[in-house]
Amino acid sequence: METVDILIKNADELLTLKGPNRPRVKREMNNLSIIHKGSIAIKDGKIFDIGRNLKYNAETTIDATGKTVTPGFVDPHTHLVFAGSREFELDMKLKGFSYMDILKKGGGIFYTVNETRKASEENLISQSIKRLDNMLKHGTTTCEAKSGYGLDLETESKILKINKKLDEIHPVDIVSTFLGAHAVPKKYSADEYVDIVIDQMIPKIKDLACFCDVFCEKDVFTVEQSKKILETGKQYGLTPKIHADEIVDTDGAALAAEVGAISADHLLRSNEQGIKQMIKQGVIGVLLPGTPFTLMMHEYANARKMIDMGLPIALASDLNPNCWIENMQFIIQLACYNMKMTSAEAITASTFNAACAIGLNDKIGSLEKGKQADVLVLDCYGHLFIPYHVGVNLVETVIKKGRLIKK
Ligand code: NIG
Ligand code: FE
Repeated sequence: METVDILIKNADELLTLKGPNRPRVKREMNNLSIIHKGSIAIKDGKIFDIGRNLKYNAETTIDATGKTVTPGFVDPHTHLVFAGSREFELDMKLKGFSYMDILKKGGGIFYTVNETRKASEENLISQSIKRLDNMLKHGTTTCEAKSGYGLDLETESKILKINKKLDEIHPVDIVSTFLGAHAVPKKYSADEYVDIVIDQMIPKIKDLACFCDVFCEKDVFTVEQSKKILETGKQYGLTPKIHADEIVDTDGAALAAEVGAISADHLLRSNEQGIKQMIKQGVIGVLLPGTPFTLMMHEYANARKMIDMGLPIALASDLNPNCWIENMQFIIQLACYNMKMTSAEAITASTFNAACAIGLNDKIGSLEKGKQADVLVLDCYGHLFIPYHVGVNLVETVIKKGRLIKK
């Protein structure tokens, strides 16, 4: 009998997410390709075999009777690296100040930029490791991480280099996004700063990131400015992503389609025409229900309608000092209770479709032979428990690249 590194057997539900290797849409999002009483064999960091009643000698055997086995969660939108915190803004938000009120007063992103510019590399690394540890404990095995708290070449590069370092030293895999256009520094006009991003930043950071993002929003960057930045990013090999229509509909969704973005994120206020254009161009909608939750907006992106129209949806935490969430189980809960996504849709959106939103679906996001062994064992009888059992960490075991991290 062949020997493997890890054998998980008897899972009440083994969610394979097996299916077409492209973003899942409509009813496909509801199909988790579940194997009941499932087994999975892991060898050399990869999935060696998957099925029912697999027979292998194994260094480690995990009896998953009464448990659910899933792919590791993928978090495709985070602002992982930042210094300090903004807990005092919660009281301001409770008093009725909006996100934009706080930003215009020089708080919000600007507060965090000041803190991040002052912070040493070691300090930023140790703060970020804490967050990555929390993510991993709660089942996130891969994340995207943006720069954007530098707003100058030096600090933006510092953040992107830290992403790279964190990817090397921490089990969670990290893909980087350049978000130099996260806010307009006070000493420039928006147009002046856009020129700096285009002429001075993108050419210098191009090898440190995979994606280029813009905060396209009323009173931040216009569609025209965003387009200039994203097109320049493309010339330097950076695939576009967009913070679109988070607070005001500025036609960010249509811009995502026009520039061929891999994803457009937030989409809380997007219009139907923009969503249709995204569908036509194959842009993924990344929804971030943690953001309206922490902003107390009482309004969420219309996931139900977007899915029914045929837009592939991914979910992400948007982890940042305004929305400090590392736990994708909580995001799945918000998606079900506040955006009317089904449990299965929210799980597809947090695994396979999330992997598509960062271009990693060949490697991760589903449990299929030959794919990277990023696997979770959850202490629950089935996937319906993930949104149902609120406020605890259901993740019992994390396997990352075939290595047992937490038992
Ligand atoms: O996606 N909206 C812009 N960026 C982040 C928030 C960043 C911050 O407030 O520090 C977001 O919500
Ligand atoms: Fe964001």
